[in-house]
Amino acid sequence: MAKKTIKDIDLNGKRVFVRVDFNVPLDDKGKVSDNTRIVRALPTIKYLIDHNAKVILASHLGNPKTDEDKKRLTMDSVKVELQKVLGKEVKKLDDSVGEVVRSEVSKMKEGDVILLENTRFHKGEKKKDPDYSKELAELADIAVNDAFGTAHRAHASNCGVGEYIPVYAGFLMEKEIDMIGKTLENPERPFVAILGGAKVSSKIGVIENLLPKVDKLLVGGAMIFTFFKAMGYKTGDSLVEEDKIEVAKNILDKAKSINKDIVFPIDVVIADDINENVNTKICSIENIPNGMKGLDIGPDSIKKFKEQLKDAKTVIWNGPMGVFEIDKFAKGTIEVAKSLAELDNAKTIIGGGDSAAAVNKFHLDDKMTHISTGGGASLEYMEGKELPGIAIIEEK
Ligand code: 3PG
Repeated sequence: MAKKTIKDIDLNGKRVFVRVDFNVPLDDKGKVSDNTRIVRALPTIKYLIDHNAKVILASHLGNPKTDEDKKRLTMDSVKVELQKVLGKEVKKLDDSVGEVVRSEVSKMKEGDVILLENTRFHKGEKKKDPDYSKELAELADIAVNDAFGTAHRAHASNCGVGEYIPVYAGFLMEKEIDMIGKTLENPERPFVAILGGAKVSSKIGVIENLLPKVDKLLVGGAMIFTFFKAMGYKTGDSLVEEDKIEVAKNILDKAKSINKDIVFPIDVVIADDINENVNTKICSIENIPNGMKGLDIGPDSIKKFKEQLKDAKTVIWNGPMGVFEIDKFAKGTIEVAKSLAELDNAKTIIGGGDSAAAVNKFHLDDKMTHISTGGGASLEYMEGKELPGIAIIEEK
């Protein structure tokens, strides 16, 4: 069912509590080192300003536990970055609730923007505490959830507030739902999913949900070695999750029984260590020698994957093909990213986290249809789970 968005409501003069995901990385000096999530929230913030709303922004930042953490994880640097990209003054407050916050909000004029302090400075945030949720909700007339990255969490600021005031989707949330949710429901075919990453254990849910929906599933990353061990191959010192070999066997059986193709690499780049100076070799997948581990997909696999992708109309990619942070093991991930970038007539959707980082690193981000701002959230969404931060949004 479709969700109501900020386009469906009258915003004029309204106090709007906007949950954004400004959980951004900070550098050694505490400055924002990647502003993607802030930039991606701008369309919603600007629309609210242009429609005469009073905009109250809230987000968590990191996982503050100690007083030291609290000093480091204030929203001060986020405010600096937000002001820069928004081109407008933002008033940052030192708390998210309380007398001072209420008084500042009461003085707001149409088009003003306030940024509340890190919501996780309050213990009630992660517990979805009713008192904290209510205090946040009482700051506003309505709430907007644009924090897709946090949608898998049922916390006070993204879900609890919805028990007191109605919640509408912001444009980023709407786009993520459209791109991931709706595509999975009704993809244009051929529909190819590419899954990678180190551990099969973190992708089991995604594989199980995607397998019946896709035309082909391409698998790379170190998780292939658990499958290869399940097939009886010699995996050398490659990363194998011994306790998931049975699960891998079941997935292979399931794929066969429903007539779905899981496409594996046919060769891998191997080395005896993971660093920039090691010697590497190309090896077939059945016979990786002891002392050597597979760290990227090999050149024949790249060709094979490209071939599988060339007619695709929809591609979803989650997880790198190798240890892409090290140049020697980055080629598989780069080439897969390039193949997606070259697909002119396909919808290409990059699940967040490592695959998004890889696409950004290789400067191919503007060639993709959509790069999710969610890490854990996009993974759980692709697993077919209902995300509490989406469930709380009003239906049309
Ligand atoms: C994320 O970065 O994945 C989201 O902001 C959620 O953060 P969390 O994992 O600390 O809840």
